[in-house]
Amino acid sequence: MADIFEKLLKNAGPLGQHRERAHGYFAFPKLEGEIGSRMKFRGKDMVVWSLNNYLGLANHPEVRKADADAAAAYGLASPMGARMMSGNTDQHEQLESELAAFVFKQDAILMNFGYQGIMSTIDAICGRHDVIVYDAESHACIIDGLRLHPGHRYVFKHNDLEDFEKQMQRATALIEKQKAGGILVITEGVFGMAGDQGKLKEIAALKGKYDFRLLVDDAHGFGTLGKTGAGAGEAQGCQDAIDLYFSTFAKSMASIGAFLAGDKTIIDFIRYNIRSQIFAKSLPMPLVIGNLKRLEMLRTMPELKEKLWSNALKLQAGLKERGFDIGKTDTPVTPVYMKGGVEEATAMVMDLRENYKIFCSIVVYPVIPKGHIIYRLIPTAAHTDADIQETLVAFTETKAKLDAGDY
Ligand SMILES: Cc1ncc(COP(=O)(O)O)c(C=O)c1O
Repeated sequence: MADIFEKLLKNAGPLGQHRERAHGYFAFPKLEGEIGSRMKFRGKDMVVWSLNNYLGLANHPEVRKADADAAAAYGLASPMGARMMSGNTDQHEQLESELAAFVFKQDAILMNFGYQGIMSTIDAICGRHDVIVYDAESHACIIDGLRLHPGHRYVFKHNDLEDFEKQMQRATALIEKQKAGGILVITEGVFGMAGDQGKLKEIAALKGKYDFRLLVDDAHGFGTLGKTGAGAGEAQGCQDAIDLYFSTFAKSMASIGAFLAGDKTIIDFIRYNIRSQIFAKSLPMPLVIGNLKRLEMLRTMPELKEKLWSNALKLQAGLKERGFDIGKTDTPVTPVYMKGGVEEATAMVMDLRENYKIFCSIVVYPVIPKGHIIYRLIPTAAHTDADIQETLVAFTETKAKLDAGDY
């Protein structure tokens, strides 16, 4: 019999194989100092474009004070136990009802982590006769949720409505043959790599033609899109058609935790059946109180979202004017597509960091096809015009070097 660890030592995995060269620089880098548009990386001040701190709340003085006061009052232990057993509080319930109201739903349930929350939601609501139809570029947590699903699943090409209909027809036919089960469609409000919104409105419009319920992961849209910040569904005018609306607190809320909102009867069912919450400790009080504060700021400080968008549009217009390909983004997420190998991409990133003091994330093969490089920039309300200008100059100069074969 093989030692189960043996294969792990032979094959470190698609990312782990680069561990020795990448660790501490391209992977697991340490950004130090107060969270903001400028932080220290290896002792040097950098303009940072890698944090999903969309509204700049991470280091807002009111947020820092609310977090610190709650930690002083309650510590991290309180409340002890799972919500169902002994870990429920008025504040947890208050946060749930405020979140539900914010996204125009009847009720909401808190989750300790978005990743587990989505997985466990899929597990709670889908049985073996149910069919899941999902977008091909869905986040890893949705894919892992599908792994828990005992029934069939059909994937549609990313944001491709023709293929969506094809898969819906297959799903419908299967359910008619089984004479049991229903269809859950899962997509995202904003696809976090490319920054394009999910085609929620178009999918919602097909509810008359096909029978299905719609679950939307709006991790990047919550707080950043829509008139009131309620997300991609609000922005596209179809929030009512979203049966289950999900967001993490890890992005615009600059915190930890997540929630799922929908009709009261369904959220109540999930409350009593979601294994990742029933069998896990309740969200600690400082996070609940900190998230209440952040939500209040989302509601009462529209200027944060306005600043985010003004920065995002300046950055995106500047890149486009300089001839950069930023793809199909219609959100603040700003991908910059270039051609080159992994060696060139890493040399360019080092040049950007060491000589231009710009810190952004890159995506290369094997995550995307060979020969392509994606630089991913996340503008926030905390960025300044100077940050944007320095970045545009750095990108223009380093792209010229890349094209000239200097890397
Ligand atoms: C689209 C999407 N869904 C879910 C998650 C997971 O959320 P969490 O960080 O709260 O586990 C993320 C990442 O944070 C995400 O980008």
